[in-house]
Amino acid sequence: MTITTCIFDAYGTLFDVSAAARNAAQEPGREKFARHWPAIATHWRLKQLQYSWLRAVMDQHADFWTLTQDALDWALEAEGLDGDAELRERLLQLYRELDAYPEVPGLLKILKEHGIATAILSNGSPGMLASAVESAGIGDYLDDVLSVESVGVFKPARTVYDLVGARFGCNPSEVLFVSSNGWDVAGGAFYGFKTVWVNRAGEPIDRLPGRPGTVLNDLSGIPGLAV
Ligand code: LAC
Repeated sequence: MTITTCIFDAYGTLFDVSAAARNAAQEPGREKFARHWPAIATHWRLKQLQYSWLRAVMDQHADFWTLTQDALDWALEAEGLDGDAELRERLLQLYRELDAYPEVPGLLKILKEHGIATAILSNGSPGMLASAVESAGIGDYLDDVLSVESVGVFKPARTVYDLVGARFGCNPSEVLFVSSNGWDVAGGAFYGFKTVWVNRAGEPIDRLPGRPGTVLNDLSGIPGLAV
């Protein structure tokens, strides 16, 4: 069936989640942080995701911006940098202005030129997503930005993937769902979307229900799959 709708995960897929720590490490006076930034970026992301799933199991939902701050606090303490309030604020500010991967604006433009509906479907809270979309300058190429906050549970819950059909009136098989997160691709594939796993890091496929339809190294091949 023809693809009518192309749905993108946000963090790690359109936006480079390591960019906040990497960019902060370049700033003057951050020599200690510069030695620790790769570990902090890794802890930050892993704790953020773990907290999303653990809170779902505990039935204690909090929005993704809260989890992002909690995860950063854990990461800074783990690396002995928890006393630096200015660094914490700077990292959170940079997280709200993450770089988009370089191929993102061009591929979204091609999809729009071919009449494909485009949207983000993200765990992110509406405020943090609006900020990232604006700083990346991609708002004109997106028909919508769908946040899990409207259903109060995180991916890969089925109710989150239901938001796509509810918004665009499409069948799951008409949707190309694109994510760099293996577990999110598994969730989308199990739901019934056609899927692309953007496996920038060359990781093994997650052993979960749902297998990726296509695996790419970056996003530049998306128009060739959708139009
Ligand atoms: C998102 C995270 C999970 O944007 O990457 O939904």
